[in-house]
Amino acid sequence: MNKYAVKSRDKWSTGFGFIMSAAGSAVGLGNIWKFPYVCGTGGGAVFLAVYIFFVIVLGYPILLTELAVGRNGGSNAVTACERIKKGWGFAGGFGVAGSMAVLAYYCTVGGWVMKYFFTAASGNIPEPTYFSEYSSLTFEPLVWQTVFILINGMIVMLGVSKGIEKVSSVLLPLLLMFLVGLMIYSLTLEGAGEGVKFFLMPDFSRITGFGELADIIVAAMGQVFFSLSLGMGTLITYGSYLDREANLSRSTGVILFIDTLIAVISGLTVLPSVFAMGMEPDEGAGLIFSTLTGVFGRLSSGNLIGAFFFALVLFAALTSSISLIETITAYLSERFGMSRKKAVAVPVAAAVLLSVPASLSYGVLSDFKIFGMTAFELYVFISDRIIMPLGGFCLCILAGWLWGRENTDREISSGGKYPFRLSGVYSFLIKYVSPVMIAVVFFSYFRNML
Ligand code: TRP
Repeated sequence: MNKYAVKSRDKWSTGFGFIMSAAGSAVGLGNIWKFPYVCGTGGGAVFLAVYIFFVIVLGYPILLTELAVGRNGGSNAVTACERIKKGWGFAGGFGVAGSMAVLAYYCTVGGWVMKYFFTAASGNIPEPTYFSEYSSLTFEPLVWQTVFILINGMIVMLGVSKGIEKVSSVLLPLLLMFLVGLMIYSLTLEGAGEGVKFFLMPDFSRITGFGELADIIVAAMGQVFFSLSLGMGTLITYGSYLDREANLSRSTGVILFIDTLIAVISGLTVLPSVFAMGMEPDEGAGLIFSTLTGVFGRLSSGNLIGAFFFALVLFAALTSSISLIETITAYLSERFGMSRKKAVAVPVAAAVLLSVPASLSYGVLSDFKIFGMTAFELYVFISDRIIMPLGGFCLCILAGWLWGRENTDREISSGGKYPFRLSGVYSFLIKYVSPVMIAVVFFSYFRNML
């Protein structure tokens, strides 16, 4: 027996519960908060097309690999990678560290969402200018983000099947249902057509040279990684609670589909309302907090719709942040023999502390820079620009070259139970296409910085 073998491990109780949890991890602020604005700044439909291309050629092989590595290992991300090749635990280690970095800024945004939800629910829709005012406060945002983190901690403390699975199985379907309702409403606003056009009709005039296209490619690839929770050991961890009954290739397809669907629906909800109100879609990170609240403010019963919207964003954020905590918790409890309670308390406490400078980056610490970045930007940089691509790259090498096609095939097909028809395509993508693409984007980004 391996010295890190785990005596009794929790398991997903149903296939549906697993899909909801994994898709819940994927569907998050990345879909609702980030996707509409990166799409908005990246030329609308051109971005969307490039994005979908990468979901297929990059998202599919990497997500599938993470689930396979996780199920094969039946353990946290580090141990799972080690079980494939001795000495390769670091590939999963990137993920554990990266999850902490994502958590540190994700919770700040989660706190903003909570504040906006409660403000709207109490009958007031904040003015568009309120966002910069609020986010620069010192104390109140800290309180909300801490509440957000503690809720997360409570869910993860309950365990995988009783906490994460239960919560995700309720929140994700609710989110999908309400979001479709909100999209229909948004599409019926006068002038919404412009937003749809912006979203779905390619505007090639925006691409004037190779530089612009390269920017779109880099942004789309980063978004695929972030939105699908890739390269961070999260899906390795979630995959480790699966048994051989699960059809990995099909599950991967379903998760990709749900995540992309919700990103597209979010685009069709946010952008039409922005255009209908004659506002600009290139506001950036503030799009849902300032531009969209401006939209809600002008609608009759806008506070109700606003409260509704922010509740959805909150659900989406929660089902993602719990997956980040679980990645760290599984690692701590299995490698250091911590009780689940302790293994949850440690990342929760770390998140409470690390997210303080993230929040203050928008206020008193806005001039405090490390390598020219605020704490918030630094966390984003470390996780999105460094760890995600590095983790993804190592995973491709580990699975494609060191584990090899025979082994990946066996795991993915559950030992032949589910014929893996895409085996040839998959193995080509994971061995050559994905690592090369990740490397090119990784280096092109750093070249731009020089
Ligand atoms: N995918 C989530 C989103 O779209 C964010 C997220 C959760 C994540 N877990 C992750 C991103 C792990 C990278 C790695 O908002």
